[in-house]
Amino acid sequence: MGKSKMRKSIAGVLVAMMMMVPFAGCAKNAENVPENTTTKETSEQKETPNTDTSKEEGIQVGIVLPTKDEPRWIQDQTRFSSILDEAGFTYQILFSQGSSATEKSNVETLISKGIKVLIICPQDTSAVGAAVQLAKDSGVTVIGYDRLITGTDALDYNVGFNSESVGVAQGQYLIDNAVGTGNPLYLYAGALSDENAFVFFKGAWSVLQPKIADGTFVIKNSNEAIKVQDTLDLTREQMAAILGQVTTDWDFNVAKSKAEAHLTSAAAKDKGNVSILAPNDGTARSIADVFASDKDVTNYVITGQDAEKASIQYVIDGKQSMTVLKDTRTLTDAAVAMSKQILNNEEVVVNSEYDNGAKKVPMNQLPVLTVTKDTVKEYIFDSGYYEASEFTGLK
Ligand code: BGC
Repeated sequence: MGKSKMRKSIAGVLVAMMMMVPFAGCAKNAENVPENTTTKETSEQKETPNTDTSKEEGIQVGIVLPTKDEPRWIQDQTRFSSILDEAGFTYQILFSQGSSATEKSNVETLISKGIKVLIICPQDTSAVGAAVQLAKDSGVTVIGYDRLITGTDALDYNVGFNSESVGVAQGQYLIDNAVGTGNPLYLYAGALSDENAFVFFKGAWSVLQPKIADGTFVIKNSNEAIKVQDTLDLTREQMAAILGQVTTDWDFNVAKSKAEAHLTSAAAKDKGNVSILAPNDGTARSIADVFASDKDVTNYVITGQDAEKASIQYVIDGKQSMTVLKDTRTLTDAAVAMSKQILNNEEVVVNSEYDNGAKKVPMNQLPVLTVTKDTVKEYIFDSGYYEASEFTGLK
């Protein structure tokens, strides 16, 4: 449990507000596919750098994920492999390893292997546009995955979670667990190159701002946020200025050193019982460790996102207060269902859309759940997301 005593948590279920708009689009350049196409692993391809899972040439579905270095994306990869194997698709999964150039060459590789569908989670929201255009020009149907892709009309579909509701869940958790007024608030955010980071922050700010304005919280680590603390609806520039100060770049080390710098420059009176908006699990664990080891921090409440295994253990141990479950089973299922519809030239079923600046992108948007000590059994173990036996300290 470390030195911190977590404040009592209030279990919250956040059902995303899904716009249940029936929406149908049709795939272009799709081909009929035999139901049970068998695939064979090629060991040489398995050893190719950045190539995680590969199938023989003439593959149907190409998947590009941002990095192998975060457990989140390994979970997606594992799940994709199992359901695509089950569905009998030929596929290949490549990782961009934090580089838009690698991402583009991954897309080129997949196009050269004849993919009909590209499922891509961008490294950089706007830089990915060139790769998406390339795929489109080659007759490939492109599905954006999890992270929003902006500024290109070459994107066909998106599958993802309601990211604004992720931020709302994080902000609301801090509010529900704050006692009295004057609670020191430390804000952290994701990478500026990821549109999702803006959407998460927007969601969190929408609930936190009124509670900053009424004195419940006092921002301690961002003068850009303090400048606009009376403004509910921030402009893109205002948000970018805040994110520019408190970004973690989705990197554990950046998160750690930023938290260390913040606590080094904060006076003891700016510590005590603190509330911390951490954007995802990896950064939350780094930041939590830093706050837990500061002698002037008596207690902290910290958010997260992704329900990574290590964070579920942190939640059980009382070292991370909550995480947001974005069930990779439902997300990969949705992406594969969409791929199947495209490959079979069927109607593509979506429930929403988002404006990416260049077009309205038909989207399948999924809900999220707030996981705390109180809900971990139901949402994580009973639902079969992880086995309880993989964790320690459960009562
Ligand atoms: C995803 C999060 C993830 C983060 C860092 C975001 O775009 O939505 O689930 O934790 O990127 O990879």
